[in-house]
Amino acid sequence: MPYVTNSKNQAENLQKEKLNQRLELLEYLKTKGRILELYAGRGFLSQVYANFATELILVDKREDYLQEAKQKIHGKVSYKIFCKDNRKFIREDLPCLGNIDFVDFDAFGSCAEQIKLFFDVYIVKKPLLVAVTDGLGLRWGWVCTNYESFEHYAKKYFLEKPKQKPGVRFMALKPVRVPRSFVKFFDELLMMQIAKRYKLKVKKINEFERPRGFPVYLGFLVTPEI
Ligand SMILES: C[S@@+](CC[C@H](N)C(=O)[O-])C[C@H]1O[C@@H](n2cnc3c(N)ncnc32)[C@H](O)[C@@H]1O
Repeated sequence: MPYVTNSKNQAENLQKEKLNQRLELLEYLKTKGRILELYAGRGFLSQVYANFATELILVDKREDYLQEAKQKIHGKVSYKIFCKDNRKFIREDLPCLGNIDFVDFDAFGSCAEQIKLFFDVYIVKKPLLVAVTDGLGLRWGWVCTNYESFEHYAKKYFLEKPKQKPGVRFMALKPVRVPRSFVKFFDELLMMQIAKRYKLKVKKINEFERPRGFPVYLGFLVTPEI
């Protein structure tokens, strides 16, 4: 049974681009580590991560999905399961969990709010790999057709309100598919702002995209600045 996205479309259980991007990022884990999935769902990634983890921490708001995930990993790896909204988890449980090595944001749509909240709460003391599924992908031109929609999305993607109005290249006159550099601007800008605010080093590791330009899959290595 395939996943159904927020916009009621069917999504494959594990897209090959997502799997390949995550596997490439996992190569940066020197030894097995603690892996946190904030959108664990039915556990298609969890069963891959089980081979690379000393412990898996799975979070999802759907109990039935987490039951499926549990069946996929039970007996293969030590795990903890949290059935709740991931924002609540980040505020209430993450502070007690200690260091993690890899965090996965595999959302339908935007996970910008969760990324910001995560770095508000989690103190990076050792290298952290960050995997992101950006469901908006190359459709940024579509959401930035006017200043109001730009402001709406800027609130998601900027830690502070941009001081200047967006330049001409933000203001497509009609829905368009925008160049890759435009998308990189938003995703990397969010991670760069996080780096600056929390004195972290953020290195982009990889970027894979689906044939129609969304979603895109991104990997970062975050380390504390010495
Ligand atoms: C793309 S699916 C995850 C797929 C999963 N990583 C896998 O490999 O099978 C997105 C998941 O996020 C969950 N989700 C969406 N918003 C959430 C939230 N605010 N808190 C917790 N889970 C959420 C949905 O229930 C859904 O299972």
